[in-house]
Amino acid sequence: MNILEIKNLNLAFHSNGRDYQALYDINLALKKGEILAIVGESGCGKTITAMSVLRLLASNAKILSGEILYKGQNLLSLSEVQMQSIRGKEISLVPQDPMTSLNPLYTIGSQILEVIEKHQKIKGEEAKKRAIEVLEQVKIPNAKGRLNSYPHEFSGGMRQRVIIAIAIACKSEIIIADEPTTALDVTVQAQIMELLKEIQKDEGTSFIFISHDFGLVYETADRTAVMYSGHVVENADSYEIFKNPKHPYTRALIKALPDFNTEKLEAIEGYPPSIKDYFSGCPFEIRCPKKMEICKNGFPPSYNFESGAVWCRLYK
Ligand SMILES: Nc1ncnc2c1ncn2[C@@H]1O[C@H](COP(=O)(O)OP(=O)(O)O)[C@@H](O)[C@H]1O
Ligand SMILES: [Mg+2]
Repeated sequence: MNILEIKNLNLAFHSNGRDYQALYDINLALKKGEILAIVGESGCGKTITAMSVLRLLASNAKILSGEILYKGQNLLSLSEVQMQSIRGKEISLVPQDPMTSLNPLYTIGSQILEVIEKHQKIKGEEAKKRAIEVLEQVKIPNAKGRLNSYPHEFSGGMRQRVIIAIAIACKSEIIIADEPTTALDVTVQAQIMELLKEIQKDEGTSFIFISHDFGLVYETADRTAVMYSGHVVENADSYEIFKNPKHPYTRALIKALPDFNTEKLEAIEGYPPSIKDYFSGCPFEIRCPKKMEICKNGFPPSYNFESGAVWCRLYK
């Protein structure tokens, strides 16, 4: 069962009197209990895809068309008040910088208790017990003693754990983690990935995990969608996409990973485009080692394979 489906999502930003399209026909599906990774270089549209789901877009953003179905209900047609009962409860966000969701003026304990009391309708000692339980679940040492600590007394990795604990406390169905480990060192990154896997297993939570780092997601995610310049260019089972990448951009991303190449590293030449750049064809064409004359003629249609699809004319 798909708990979330993004269907033909098109989004533009209004800037200097003009609309610039930033997302093109995004189609993504998240199954219940699955981890879906969205990968791609900075600026390709990962965050705005996630923010469309939560309806937390900048005021100059305009959804041109599409649907975002959560348990079959189109989130784009809900009122702001209805959205507020979904956000942070049904669907939670773990952002890159945890200080954007933790209030520096309140203790960790009071921030967790607030959501537990609000969403689970338990109070007092019972709520406190639950707060300690979720902090233990995300492996905060001495959870009981840390309830009175302030966010600045925690390391970056520990703050991310607290935000994950809050999402668990709310029994969120979907956790969207937007580069949650980018600011952390490599060992802590691995621990957080491990933790997400455990929560997926124990709680049946579904995740959208956003990263610019293919190496980080391929072992954790069940499925991976690769984005480039506002388009999904490949979408498949993670194992398949990693072992047998099809799109020249996916291949380039994997070739640029330091840990997976004994041969020489190949950085992707050129830069990812801006939403102000205009393309008559495939936006990767100018950087593509496999480009053909036909690639200038519109964005390619999708070509399906067993566990996914690729948007590239090499496969027609
Ligand atoms: N409020 C905005 N106004 C204009 N352009 C924006 C705005 N927010 C994001 N963008 C542009 O949309 C594109 C996608 O952004 P984003 O989703 O943040 O990329 P990613 O998360 O993949 O790095 C980028 O080119 C970015 O500059
Ligand atoms: Mg981003």
